[in-house]
Amino acid sequence: MSEKAGNLTMEKLVSLCQRRGFIFPSSDIYGGLSGCWDYGPAGIELKRNVKEAWWRSIVQERDDMLGMDTSILMNPKVWEASGHVTSFSDPLVECKNCHLRWKADDLRENKCPTCSGELTEERMFNTMFKTFVGPVEDDTATVYLRPETAQGMFVNFQNAVSTGRKRLPFGIAQQGKAFRNEITTGNFIFRSREFEIMEFEYFIKPGTQDKWFEYWINERLAWYQKLGIDKDRLQLHRKKKEDLAHYAIAGADIEYNFPWGWGELEGIANRTDYDLKQHSAASGKSMEYYDDETKEHYVPYVVEPSVGADRAILAFMCDAYDEETVKDELRVVFHFHPDLAPVKVAVLPLSRKENLAALAKDVYGALRPCFATQYDDTQAIGRRYRRQDELGTPYCVTIDFASLEDNMATIRERDSMDQIRVPVATLKTTLLAKLAGEDFSILPEGGRIQKQVKS
Ligand code: GAP
Repeated sequence: MSEKAGNLTMEKLVSLCQRRGFIFPSSDIYGGLSGCWDYGPAGIELKRNVKEAWWRSIVQERDDMLGMDTSILMNPKVWEASGHVTSFSDPLVECKNCHLRWKADDLRENKCPTCSGELTEERMFNTMFKTFVGPVEDDTATVYLRPETAQGMFVNFQNAVSTGRKRLPFGIAQQGKAFRNEITTGNFIFRSREFEIMEFEYFIKPGTQDKWFEYWINERLAWYQKLGIDKDRLQLHRKKKEDLAHYAIAGADIEYNFPWGWGELEGIANRTDYDLKQHSAASGKSMEYYDDETKEHYVPYVVEPSVGADRAILAFMCDAYDEETVKDELRVVFHFHPDLAPVKVAVLPLSRKENLAALAKDVYGALRPCFATQYDDTQAIGRRYRRQDELGTPYCVTIDFASLEDNMATIRERDSMDQIRVPVATLKTTLLAKLAGEDFSILPEGGRIQKQVKS
């Protein structure tokens, strides 16, 4: 009996994330810091895999994209020109009774959600963090922690054109930390104050924006599904004019059905030529592109798909989470796509006896250059399988006493719990094929089916 994501609660997920080393509250021993999170050994592998999958799909597998990594601190004139100093704000209200502050957009009723107290009038609160450059803390030294990575790419537009050898349409892509002094945080890593963004600016000829807007919506929806997200848990929400960011004339959100309901996963915006023109006017530098096919000069339009890496991780975790009862015991498992799984293969010797350990260590040594591999010789084998299920490890390789005689090992598949027995010499190629999607029942020469759980 399987109870997929439907009955997942955030409490269960947060507890699993702590238990298995995915995500911890930041500075936990001091009581944490609201809106900040630390990724543990399993979490950092998952995060690197999500970022890597995005980078491969957006940058490395395309001819029309350039990668960049720009600085977090930028000349403050950037944020004046981009409109963030005046417009990157949320409406804030304060409870006159308990003095808690709320983002007005999040409230269903015009009273304090905690004590039902009366609220103040709305005022706009700029969510950019400020700090100072150099030893003097005055207005002339004020800089901002970037709230998005986009501006680093806009101000480098001409560098990309002159060194990137690309014709329009082409994009600049970037991943990196972003900071927002959110009025309220919540739902675990969904809305935090420090997070990682993965976004790109796709520069196009004005007039072609509708076509590219729809193209990127479809590409991005397909990316989530390719990595295993259930299409019924994704939906597209086209934004109304009044809900658009200050730089956009059209926008759509890819939403995911999180345990608390639908929430924004990724935003896709038509930013027009707004940012490039603003930077051109403020810096005095041309942001025009010379189209050598049509012999025209123009400032390109931009379509921008932008997703928080942490939000994507939350969606991948919610979607992969599963509970089932096996032999009267609860089995909790993350059915991660193999590309995202923090550990691909676990090597589990049945006992710590010296001769068995020697063979298991040999196998481990041969596999670890190829995949993220874990060696685990603690506790009973059933417990070790459960631990790997909770990490989302697609395959476990068990070395038993018969392995010493027949030089074979058992591979156990996470999702079906089926087992096959294969020659140790074929382990690497067999696991490579399985991780690339080969059916588990296909056997290498000399292999056999060991156990079929559900058939
Ligand atoms: N450059 C465009 C931009 O920053 P956005 O809609 O403000 O657009 C893009 O943010 C994405 O970043 C969102 O769709 C969401 O996935 C993520 N994001 C935004 N604020 C976040 C926060 N406080 N915590 C975690 N992720 C956040």
